[in-house]
Amino acid sequence: MNAQETVEVAPGAFHLPGFLPEPDQRRVLAAVEAIAAGPAGFYRPRVRGGGMMHCDMLCLGRHWNAMTYTYEPVRADYDDRPAPPLPADLARLAESAAAVAGYGLAPDICLVNRYGRDGRMGLHQDKDEDASALEAGVPVVSLSLGDTARFLLGGLRRREPAAAIALRSGDAFVMGGPSRLRYHGVARIFAGSGPAALGLDGRISLTYRQFALARPRGRVGSLRSREAPQSHALRRRLLDPHEC
Ligand code: SIN
Ligand code: MN
Repeated sequence: MNAQETVEVAPGAFHLPGFLPEPDQRRVLAAVEAIAAGPAGFYRPRVRGGGMMHCDMLCLGRHWNAMTYTYEPVRADYDDRPAPPLPADLARLAESAAAVAGYGLAPDICLVNRYGRDGRMGLHQDKDEDASALEAGVPVVSLSLGDTARFLLGGLRRREPAAAIALRSGDAFVMGGPSRLRYHGVARIFAGSGPAALGLDGRISLTYRQFALARPRGRVGSLRSREAPQSHALRRRLLDPHEC
């Protein structure tokens, strides 16, 4: 893991630019592509209002049902196939990113989003996990591959202003503690901006969660300390709405 510095962009929300070196990005992409080539690959979810999402999804560990906003073992809103398991090596990456930000995390769900050049995701909260995890502030961790995204980080209420952060290939973003329920979304994808060596047209994000606080390891979900590990410089920076 490679993060040069860890930027706390809001209390409990951390941007880890360059967290995954390019060889690791290639390995993660290959792992996602191998799962996607199996019986339960990417699909385009239809949401409650009847419209389609603007990205494809592939849920690992548990399926997130876009109609009911609940997690379940099978893809009941699509093809009834079981959600593929979350491989331990992919889960470990999120654990490491969470640890850099000072959090404990035992991820058992990963929602993989695939965005084309017109891909986007509206502002929303990630709040479909168990109350035990939400109340403890157990973080959601994302890893980005491919084209840069204009990621929006809002407040705890939908009407609060959102700031834009460029998430580049290899970046991790950790949203926990007092930021666990912040509104967030993806405003746009910068087509062709990803590393050529990855050979990915568009963007893939892996967003990890821990469903419930069943097996706490250390002080799961809480900031273990105000300092990041020594190898990672921790910087606090006010959100800048014009960053990208
Ligand atoms: C999400 O909030 O589910 C997706 C965020 C991202 O693609 O970075
Ligand atoms: Mn989300």
